[in-house]
Amino acid sequence: MKTDELINTATALMTGDKGLLAMDESIATSSKRFEEAGIPTTIEYRRAYREMIVTTPNLGKCISGAILFDETIYQSTKKGVLFIDTLKKAGIIPGIKVDEGTVDMANFPGEKITEGIDGLRQRLEKYYDLGARFTKWRAVIIIGEDSPTKGNIEANMHLLARYAALCQENAIVPIVEPEVVMDGDHSLKKCAKVTGKVLKELFKQLAKQKVDLRGVILKPNMVLPGIKSPKQVGIDKAAKATVECLLKNVPPTIAGVAFLSGGQSPQLATAHLNAMHVKYKGKLPWPLTFSFARAIQQPAMDTWKGLDKNIKAAQKLLYTRASLDNAARRGEYTPEMES
Ligand code: G3H
Repeated sequence: MKTDELINTATALMTGDKGLLAMDESIATSSKRFEEAGIPTTIEYRRAYREMIVTTPNLGKCISGAILFDETIYQSTKKGVLFIDTLKKAGIIPGIKVDEGTVDMANFPGEKITEGIDGLRQRLEKYYDLGARFTKWRAVIIIGEDSPTKGNIEANMHLLARYAALCQENAIVPIVEPEVVMDGDHSLKKCAKVTGKVLKELFKQLAKQKVDLRGVILKPNMVLPGIKSPKQVGIDKAAKATVECLLKNVPPTIAGVAFLSGGQSPQLATAHLNAMHVKYKGKLPWPLTFSFARAIQQPAMDTWKGLDKNIKAAQKLLYTRASLDNAARRGEYTPEMES
């Protein structure tokens, strides 16, 4: 295993006040977001949108790594420069989502399992040659009346660990993403309990597969009540519940933690990250940052609308969102900065 390379990549991804930009939406997810924003769902619009993102001026000042999608890694700007080269030139490490999405899990009604482990070794070799230095695999955990079950958690965390081992074999840093989704009416306490259980199992499986945590980044959900819960909580309470859960279940040796936004508004995701840094300044054993998709991209997508004349305004919003997340990582964000 190329331990030094892994540790160097992971350290670079977690550097300073930067974070990750997830721009790895599958064709289905991207089409859903485009439809909501009134943008045609064609391959050329997806390419143009991603060009708008990767050519955002100064993006590399805020973003250390960008997660691409299989379609995107082969695409180029109108001038013919590969996105992957555009990112590298901006000082952004290219990464790629390598899971192949989720399907219903046999014998576990209502629960999901992630696909993509077959042939992964060969795909990783190809992505490394193309320039990707880190990857992402997302497991989806659903809170329901009878879920998540032990069998579903174990199977998903086992796959995450097998994926992580294969990545490290190829000198690629794995981002392990066990997402406890926000859908539902569960309480904050329930989310904390499930997230804790999932993380415990994840690190058990990572140890069994001999994964070197110094070359792994965890991408967890924040601990929040379900979207439909009548008992929503304040920013500080959610921030505390999240960090306490991580402190209990995440070993200090891991390279870093980078949150998904999970459907929170951009402002709320930023405020939560900020509150964690304000309250736990100097007390966190790992770097704690962001790996948002919607919470960075949404305002830019809504403004772009698929039109060239809106590119500059959209890029400005994208940059602003990312730099507000930098401020949150420093614990210096205030809602007034939004205007
Ligand atoms: O897998 C999920 C994405 O990488 C993060 O997306 O920030 O919109 O939840 P999100």
